[in-house]
Amino acid sequence: MSAPEPIPGARLLFSNDAAVAQLNHGSFGLVPIAVQRAQQRLRDEVEANPPRFFSVGLEARVAHVRRHLAAFVGADPDLTALVDNATTGTSTVLAGLDLGGGDEVVTTDHGYGAVDLAVDVLCRRTGASRRVARVPLGDDDDAVVEAVLDAVTGRTRLVIVDHITATTARVLPVRRIVEAVRARAGERVAVLVDAAHAPGLLPDPVAGIGADFWVGNLHKWAYAPRGTALLSVAPRWRERMRSLVVSWSEEAGFPDSLEWLGAHDYTPWLAAPTGLFVLRSLGIDAVHRHNAALAEHGQALLAEVLDVTVPPRTGLPMTVVPLPQGAGADQTAATALRRRISDDLATEVGLASWRGRGYLRLSAQVYNREEDFQRLVEGLPKLLRRS
Ligand SMILES: Cc1ncc(COP(=O)(O)O)c(C=O)c1O
Repeated sequence: MSAPEPIPGARLLFSNDAAVAQLNHGSFGLVPIAVQRAQQRLRDEVEANPPRFFSVGLEARVAHVRRHLAAFVGADPDLTALVDNATTGTSTVLAGLDLGGGDEVVTTDHGYGAVDLAVDVLCRRTGASRRVARVPLGDDDDAVVEAVLDAVTGRTRLVIVDHITATTARVLPVRRIVEAVRARAGERVAVLVDAAHAPGLLPDPVAGIGADFWVGNLHKWAYAPRGTALLSVAPRWRERMRSLVVSWSEEAGFPDSLEWLGAHDYTPWLAAPTGLFVLRSLGIDAVHRHNAALAEHGQALLAEVLDVTVPPRTGLPMTVVPLPQGAGADQTAATALRRRISDDLATEVGLASWRGRGYLRLSAQVYNREEDFQRLVEGLPKLLRRS
């Protein structure tokens, strides 16, 4: 597959360092200039008169943004709250569950490390435990559903699955998982979908899944400023969702109590619709087609020079390349290698260890060109030989 034609002018919408091959949009996003400007105008408005900014009309503006963003992901705005990030959303869900000794939480071995940590901390406090489903890396959805169900026992209270996995960049069949868990355990087991990467990548990612809880970041693929995420819940959980930080709107309940956090920085949320505007102006489908084709092209180039086999294609703008045996095999080695790629090749990639093997994750965005991937293709084999 050849590299796709660039989207005319799209590169100029971003302010990334031209000297760096930025192939890691997936970790922290990269905010378009128009969105940075919108946020700066909001900051200017705050600093012109802070008491007035916070006391006149702010709640209505936040509620308006919530409705706008909820519609974008196909969520019910009354069952959806703005939160700072997926991590906050996940901790909010865990705090509302009332887990006790003997209860079990199921995660998968593709799960995000900080989410696993949050579960482990809760387990230590409550006497619950975490059971990890080993999910295959291939594209067999039946096998994924079966692996998750195998981990569900009579003690399971919560299942956490990623819609798009971070380390392995797979799309998991979350709707089927929700249906299968329901069929097996009814409402005794809740399902949390960690959709950190879904907004902007998957159409209407909340609608139709039927999960108890859903968290998604707008600051990765929907061009929002960092600090913009949504937590969406099923009606039966609404009353149980409390803010992790108690402030003036505590008694107002979900979603207001999660959103009104005193002297919080509301500018990322208020500027987030500008991100959607940029995305829609470029054309969501055109952006997706370009990015997915470029990520796949880069993956093919790198896999060839490293002589490795890649997992089945996903159509995502994030692809992974398994590294030769021994490179980045544990998390410490993977982190050190990512740092060396950054230092020596001026290239940013995702890199993590999964089942004892290093996986390099390539993200593609409209600001990337084939040359960004070429730098890695030329430099990485030498760097690995030296390491
Ligand atoms: C699958 C997944 N879950 C959760 C997160 C955490 O996102 P945040 O740091 O914005 O809370 C990430 C971040 O990359 C992720 O990939």
